[in-house]
Amino acid sequence: TWTTGNIVEEQIAAIREQVGDKRAICGLSGGVDSAVAAALVQKAIGSQLTCVYVDHGLMRKGETEQVEKDFVAATGVQLKVVDAQERFLNALAGVSDPETKRKIIGREFIRVFEQAQLEILQEDGPAVAFLVQGTLYPDVVESGGGTGTANIKSHHNVGGLPDDIEFELVEPLRQLFKDEVRMVGQELGLPDEIVQRQPFPGPGLGIRIVGEVTKERLDLLREADAIARHELTAAGLDREIWQCPVVLLADVRSVGVQGDGRTYGHPIVLRPVSSEDAMTADWTRMPYEVLARISTRITNEVADVNRVVLDCTSKPPGTIEWE
Ligand code: XMP
Repeated sequence: TWTTGNIVEEQIAAIREQVGDKRAICGLSGGVDSAVAAALVQKAIGSQLTCVYVDHGLMRKGETEQVEKDFVAATGVQLKVVDAQERFLNALAGVSDPETKRKIIGREFIRVFEQAQLEILQEDGPAVAFLVQGTLYPDVVESGGGTGTANIKSHHNVGGLPDDIEFELVEPLRQLFKDEVRMVGQELGLPDEIVQRQPFPGPGLGIRIVGEVTKERLDLLREADAIARHELTAAGLDREIWQCPVVLLADVRSVGVQGDGRTYGHPIVLRPVSSEDAMTADWTRMPYEVLARISTRITNEVADVNRVVLDCTSKPPGTIEWE
Protein backbone atom coordinates (compact mmCIF):
# COMPACT_ATOMS: atom_id res chain seq x y z
CA THR A 1 0.00 0.00 0.00
CA TRP A 2 0.94 3.60 -0.65
CA THR A 3 2.26 5.52 2.36
CA THR A 4 4.62 8.44 2.75
CA GLY A 5 6.93 6.14 4.73
CA ASN A 6 7.09 3.76 1.77
CA ILE A 7 7.96 6.55 -0.62
CA VAL A 8 10.77 7.70 1.65
CA GLU A 9 12.17 4.18 2.05
CA GLU A 10 11.87 3.42 -1.64
CA GLN A 11 13.53 6.67 -2.66
CA ILE A 12 16.35 6.28 -0.15
CA ALA A 13 17.10 2.81 -1.53
CA ALA A 14 16.89 4.10 -5.12
CA ILE A 15 19.21 7.05 -4.36
CA ARG A 16 21.80 4.78 -2.68
CA GLU A 17 21.65 2.45 -5.65
CA GLN A 18 22.03 5.28 -8.18
CA VAL A 19 24.77 7.27 -6.45
CA GLY A 20 26.81 4.38 -5.03
CA ASP A 21 29.97 5.70 -3.39
CA LYS A 22 30.18 8.85 -5.54
CA ARG A 23 29.24 12.29 -4.38
CA ALA A 24 26.30 14.48 -5.26
CA ILE A 25 25.60 18.16 -5.19
CA CYS A 26 22.21 19.74 -4.78
CA GLY A 27 21.13 23.24 -5.58
CA LEU A 28 18.98 24.78 -2.88
CA SER A 29 16.55 27.41 -4.12
CA GLY A 30 14.92 28.26 -0.81
CA GLY A 31 11.76 26.44 -1.90
CA VAL A 32 10.04 23.33 -0.58
CA ASP A 33 10.99 21.10 -3.49
CA SER A 34 14.74 21.48 -3.39
CA ALA A 35 14.72 21.43 0.42
CA VAL A 36 12.84 18.13 0.57
CA ALA A 37 14.91 16.63 -2.25
CA ALA A 38 18.09 17.64 -0.41
CA ALA A 39 16.85 16.29 2.93
CA LEU A 40 15.93 12.99 1.27
CA VAL A 41 19.31 12.64 -0.41
CA GLN A 42 21.07 13.72 2.79
CA LYS A 43 19.24 10.93 4.59
CA ALA A 44 20.27 8.42 1.89
CA ILE A 45 23.95 9.30 1.43
CA GLY A 46 24.81 11.67 4.29
CA SER A 47 28.13 13.44 3.86
CA GLN A 48 28.42 12.37 0.22
CA LEU A 49 26.02 15.25 -0.43
CA THR A 50 27.05 18.88 -0.59
CA CYS A 51 24.36 21.50 -1.05
CA VAL A 52 25.05 24.58 -3.08
CA TYR A 53 23.03 27.71 -2.64
CA VAL A 54 23.40 30.15 -5.48
CA ASP A 55 22.63 33.66 -4.36
CA HIS A 56 21.59 34.94 -7.77
CA GLY A 57 20.18 38.16 -6.39
CA LEU A 58 16.69 37.16 -7.55
CA MET A 59 15.55 35.99 -4.12
CA ARG A 60 12.96 37.65 -1.94
CA LYS A 61 13.82 39.59 1.18
CA GLY A 62 15.30 37.40 3.92
CA GLU A 63 15.34 34.19 1.88
CA THR A 64 19.07 33.78 1.64
CA GLU A 65 19.41 34.09 5.40
CA GLN A 66 16.62 31.54 5.86
CA VAL A 67 18.48 28.94 3.80
CA GLU A 68 21.81 29.70 5.45
CA LYS A 69 20.42 29.39 8.97
CA ASP A 70 17.13 27.47 9.22
CA PHE A 71 17.70 24.78 6.65
CA VAL A 72 21.19 23.99 7.83
CA ALA A 73 19.95 23.87 11.42
CA ALA A 74 17.15 21.45 10.46
CA THR A 75 19.20 19.02 8.38
CA GLY A 76 22.85 19.44 9.33
CA VAL A 77 23.64 19.45 5.63
CA GLN A 78 26.98 20.69 4.27
CA LEU A 79 26.27 23.99 2.55
CA LYS A 80 28.32 26.06 0.14
CA VAL A 81 26.98 29.55 -0.60
CA VAL A 82 28.02 31.13 -3.89
CA ASP A 83 27.51 34.85 -4.40
CA ALA A 84 26.65 35.14 -8.09
CA GLN A 85 24.58 38.32 -8.10
CA GLU A 86 26.81 40.26 -10.48
CA ARG A 87 27.00 37.38 -12.88
CA PHE A 88 23.24 36.95 -13.15
CA LEU A 89 22.59 40.67 -13.49
CA ASN A 90 25.17 40.93 -16.25
CA ALA A 91 23.74 37.92 -18.08
CA LEU A 92 20.21 39.33 -17.83
CA ALA A 93 21.10 42.88 -18.87
CA GLY A 94 18.96 44.10 -21.75
CA VAL A 95 16.74 41.00 -21.78
CA SER A 96 12.95 41.31 -21.55
CA ASP A 97 11.70 38.16 -23.27
CA PRO A 98 10.42 35.66 -20.64
CA GLU A 99 11.70 32.50 -22.29
CA THR A 100 15.10 34.08 -22.90
CA LYS A 101 15.27 35.10 -19.22
CA ARG A 102 14.37 31.56 -18.14
CA LYS A 103 16.99 30.04 -20.43
CA ILE A 104 19.68 32.47 -19.25
CA ILE A 105 18.89 31.85 -15.57
CA GLY A 106 18.86 28.06 -16.11
CA ARG A 107 22.14 28.21 -18.00
CA GLU A 108 23.89 30.43 -15.43
CA PHE A 109 22.71 28.12 -12.65
CA ILE A 110 24.42 25.15 -14.28
CA ARG A 111 27.59 27.14 -14.96
CA VAL A 112 27.77 28.18 -11.31
CA PHE A 113 27.19 24.58 -10.21
CA GLU A 114 30.00 23.45 -12.48
CA GLN A 115 32.29 25.96 -10.82
CA ALA A 116 31.14 24.81 -7.40
CA GLN A 117 31.77 21.24 -8.51
CA LEU A 118 35.33 22.12 -9.52
CA GLU A 119 35.91 23.62 -6.10
CA ILE A 120 34.37 20.64 -4.32
CA LEU A 121 36.45 18.31 -6.50
CA GLN A 122 39.60 19.86 -5.11
CA GLU A 123 38.58 18.58 -1.72
CA ASP A 124 39.51 14.99 -0.86
CA GLY A 125 37.11 12.19 -1.71
CA PRO A 126 35.35 10.64 -4.70
CA ALA A 127 34.19 12.61 -7.73
CA VAL A 128 30.97 14.56 -7.84
CA ALA A 129 28.87 12.93 -10.56
CA PHE A 130 25.30 13.66 -9.54
CA LEU A 131 23.11 16.71 -9.47
CA VAL A 132 20.04 16.50 -7.23
CA GLN A 133 16.98 18.41 -8.40
CA GLY A 134 13.58 18.89 -6.82
CA THR A 135 11.69 18.33 -10.05
CA LEU A 136 8.01 17.51 -9.44
CA TYR A 137 5.55 15.69 -11.62
CA PRO A 138 3.83 18.90 -12.81
CA ASP A 139 7.24 20.33 -13.84
CA VAL A 140 7.87 17.23 -15.92
CA VAL A 141 4.46 17.43 -17.60
CA GLU A 142 4.58 21.16 -18.28
CA SER A 143 8.05 20.98 -19.80
CA GLY A 144 6.79 18.37 -22.25
CA GLY A 145 8.85 15.58 -20.70
CA GLY A 146 6.01 13.58 -19.21
CA THR A 147 3.00 12.68 -21.27
CA GLY A 148 4.00 14.49 -24.42
CA THR A 149 1.96 17.62 -23.78
CA ALA A 150 3.12 20.75 -25.52
CA ASN A 151 5.92 22.77 -23.95
CA ILE A 152 4.31 25.60 -22.00
CA LYS A 153 7.26 27.16 -20.20
CA SER A 154 10.85 26.10 -19.80
CA HIS A 155 10.91 25.38 -16.10
CA HIS A 156 14.49 26.05 -15.35
CA ASN A 157 15.02 22.71 -13.66
CA VAL A 158 13.79 20.72 -16.66
CA GLY A 159 13.56 22.19 -20.14
CA GLY A 160 15.92 25.08 -19.53
CA LEU A 161 19.02 22.97 -18.97
CA PRO A 162 21.77 23.34 -21.56
CA ASP A 163 22.65 20.30 -23.69
CA ASP A 164 26.21 19.98 -22.41
CA ILE A 165 25.23 19.31 -18.79
CA GLU A 166 27.92 17.33 -17.03
CA PHE A 167 25.91 15.75 -14.25
CA GLU A 168 23.63 12.77 -14.05
CA LEU A 169 20.37 13.92 -12.50
CA VAL A 170 18.90 12.57 -9.27
CA GLU A 171 15.23 13.54 -9.14
CA PRO A 172 13.59 11.75 -6.20
CA LEU A 173 10.37 13.84 -6.37
CA ARG A 174 9.72 13.32 -10.07
CA GLN A 175 6.54 11.31 -9.53
CA LEU A 176 5.09 13.45 -6.77
CA PHE A 177 2.71 16.35 -6.49
CA LYS A 178 3.34 19.23 -4.12
CA ASP A 179 1.10 17.97 -1.30
CA GLU A 180 2.93 14.64 -1.38
CA VAL A 181 6.27 16.44 -1.27
CA ARG A 182 5.12 18.26 1.87
CA MET A 183 4.17 14.92 3.46
CA VAL A 184 7.59 13.51 2.60
CA GLY A 185 9.21 16.59 4.16
CA GLN A 186 7.20 16.09 7.34
CA GLU A 187 8.10 12.41 7.40
CA LEU A 188 11.77 13.47 7.19
CA GLY A 189 11.32 15.74 10.20
CA LEU A 190 11.71 19.08 8.46
CA PRO A 191 10.14 22.00 10.35
CA ASP A 192 6.85 23.55 9.23
CA GLU A 193 8.50 26.81 8.15
CA ILE A 194 10.20 24.82 5.42
CA VAL A 195 7.56 22.19 4.64
CA GLN A 196 4.59 24.54 4.50
CA ARG A 197 6.41 27.22 2.57
CA GLN A 198 4.52 28.40 -0.47
CA PRO A 199 5.96 27.60 -3.89
CA PHE A 200 8.47 30.03 -5.36
CA PRO A 201 9.87 29.59 -8.87
CA GLY A 202 13.53 28.73 -9.42
CA PRO A 203 14.09 31.79 -11.65
CA GLY A 204 12.88 33.87 -8.71
CA LEU A 205 12.01 37.52 -9.06
CA GLY A 206 13.64 37.45 -12.50
CA ILE A 207 10.33 36.27 -13.97
CA ARG A 208 8.26 38.63 -11.81
CA ILE A 209 9.62 41.78 -13.42
CA VAL A 210 7.87 42.33 -16.71
CA GLY A 211 10.66 43.99 -18.62
CA GLU A 212 14.41 44.10 -18.10
CA VAL A 213 15.75 42.87 -14.76
CA THR A 214 17.91 45.44 -12.98
CA LYS A 215 19.22 45.79 -9.43
CA GLU A 216 16.99 48.81 -8.76
CA ARG A 217 13.87 47.02 -9.97
CA LEU A 218 14.72 43.93 -7.93
CA ASP A 219 15.14 46.03 -4.79
CA LEU A 220 11.82 47.75 -5.44
CA LEU A 221 9.99 44.44 -6.04
CA ARG A 222 11.62 42.91 -2.93
CA GLU A 223 10.12 45.73 -0.82
CA ALA A 224 6.64 45.36 -2.33
CA ASP A 225 6.76 41.57 -2.00
CA ALA A 226 7.89 41.73 1.63
CA ILE A 227 4.95 44.00 2.47
CA ALA A 228 2.43 41.73 0.72
CA ARG A 229 3.83 38.60 2.38
CA HIS A 230 3.86 40.25 5.79
CA GLU A 231 0.21 41.34 5.53
CA LEU A 232 -0.97 37.98 4.15
CA THR A 233 0.71 36.15 7.01
CA ALA A 234 -0.62 38.63 9.57
CA ALA A 235 -4.14 38.07 8.18
CA GLY A 236 -3.74 34.30 8.59
CA LEU A 237 -4.10 33.62 4.87
CA ASP A 238 -0.96 31.56 4.26
CA ARG A 239 -2.78 28.23 4.12
CA GLU A 240 -5.77 29.42 2.11
CA ILE A 241 -3.57 31.06 -0.49
CA TRP A 242 -1.40 28.64 -2.46
CA GLN A 243 0.99 31.41 -3.38
CA CYS A 244 0.78 35.09 -4.20
CA PRO A 245 3.23 36.25 -6.82
CA VAL A 246 3.89 39.97 -6.61
CA VAL A 247 4.77 41.26 -10.04
CA LEU A 248 6.38 44.53 -11.12
CA LEU A 249 5.21 45.90 -14.45
CA ALA A 250 8.48 47.65 -15.10
CA ASP A 251 7.65 48.52 -18.69
CA VAL A 252 4.35 50.16 -17.74
CA ARG A 253 3.86 53.57 -16.18
CA SER A 254 0.68 55.25 -15.13
CA VAL A 255 -0.21 58.71 -13.89
CA GLY A 256 -1.04 59.19 -10.25
CA VAL A 257 -1.20 61.85 -7.58
CA GLN A 258 0.60 61.71 -4.28
CA GLY A 259 1.02 64.55 -1.80
CA ASP A 260 0.90 67.73 -3.87
CA GLY A 261 2.20 66.31 -7.05
CA ARG A 262 1.67 64.25 -10.12
CA THR A 263 3.46 60.91 -10.18
CA TYR A 264 4.31 58.69 -13.10
CA GLY A 265 5.15 55.32 -11.60
CA HIS A 266 4.90 51.59 -12.03
CA PRO A 267 2.03 49.25 -11.16
CA ILE A 268 2.46 46.28 -8.86
CA VAL A 269 0.25 43.26 -9.54
CA LEU A 270 -0.98 40.98 -6.75
CA ARG A 271 -1.65 37.46 -7.96
CA PRO A 272 -3.14 35.47 -5.04
CA VAL A 273 -4.13 31.99 -6.22
CA SER A 274 -5.76 28.93 -4.72
CA SER A 275 -4.69 25.58 -6.10
CA GLU A 276 -4.21 21.89 -5.35
CA ASP A 277 -1.19 21.18 -7.50
CA ALA A 278 -0.43 24.32 -9.58
CA MET A 279 -1.68 22.58 -12.73
CA THR A 280 -4.88 24.58 -12.44
CA ALA A 281 -5.63 27.50 -10.14
CA ASP A 282 -8.25 30.06 -9.30
CA TRP A 283 -7.70 33.57 -8.02
CA THR A 284 -8.30 33.77 -4.29
CA ARG A 285 -11.31 35.79 -3.16
CA MET A 286 -9.35 37.33 -0.33
CA PRO A 287 -10.77 39.96 2.06
CA TYR A 288 -10.97 43.50 0.69
CA GLU A 289 -9.51 44.92 3.92
CA VAL A 290 -6.33 42.92 3.45
CA LEU A 291 -6.07 44.02 -0.18
CA ALA A 292 -6.61 47.61 0.94
CA ARG A 293 -3.88 47.38 3.56
CA ILE A 294 -1.39 45.90 1.13
CA SER A 295 -2.24 48.50 -1.50
CA THR A 296 -1.94 51.42 0.90
CA ARG A 297 1.33 50.22 2.34
CA ILE A 298 2.95 49.45 -1.00
CA THR A 299 2.01 52.80 -2.57
CA ASN A 300 3.10 54.67 0.56
CA GLU A 301 6.31 52.78 1.25
CA VAL A 302 7.72 51.75 -2.12
CA ALA A 303 9.17 54.56 -4.16
CA ASP A 304 8.13 54.69 -7.81
CA VAL A 305 5.03 52.51 -7.32
CA ASN A 306 1.77 54.45 -7.54
CA ARG A 307 -0.78 51.72 -8.29
CA VAL A 308 -1.59 48.22 -7.04
CA VAL A 309 -3.80 45.96 -9.16
CA LEU A 310 -5.37 42.56 -8.52
CA ASP A 311 -5.03 39.76 -11.04
CA CYS A 312 -8.43 38.01 -11.12
CA THR A 313 -7.65 35.41 -13.77
CA SER A 314 -7.87 31.67 -13.26
CA LYS A 315 -5.35 29.14 -14.67
CA PRO A 316 -6.13 28.41 -17.44
CA PRO A 317 -6.21 30.74 -19.26
CA GLY A 318 -3.58 32.60 -17.20
CA THR A 319 -0.57 30.85 -15.75
CA ILE A 320 0.26 31.50 -12.09
CA GLU A 321 3.43 33.42 -12.89
CA TRP A 322 3.31 36.26 -15.40
CA GLU A 323 6.32 34.97 -17.36
P1 XMP B 1 2.85 28.54 -13.86
O1 XMP B 1 3.29 29.95 -14.00
O2 XMP B 1 3.41 27.65 -14.95
O3 XMP B 1 3.47 28.02 -12.51
O4 XMP B 1 1.36 28.39 -13.74
C1 XMP B 1 3.14 26.80 -11.93
C2 XMP B 1 3.91 26.66 -10.65
O5 XMP B 1 5.29 26.48 -10.92
C3 XMP B 1 6.05 27.53 -10.37
N1 XMP B 1 7.09 27.82 -11.36
C4 XMP B 1 8.34 27.34 -11.32
N2 XMP B 1 8.97 26.57 -10.39
N3 XMP B 1 10.96 26.64 -11.69
C5 XMP B 1 10.28 26.26 -10.59
O6 XMP B 1 10.88 25.58 -9.75
C6 XMP B 1 10.40 27.40 -12.66
O7 XMP B 1 11.02 27.75 -13.66
C7 XMP B 1 9.01 27.76 -12.45
N4 XMP B 1 8.12 28.50 -13.17
C8 XMP B 1 6.96 28.51 -12.48
C9 XMP B 1 5.08 28.65 -10.12
O8 XMP B 1 5.52 29.53 -9.08
C10 XMP B 1 3.83 27.88 -9.76
O9 XMP B 1 3.88 27.43 -8.42
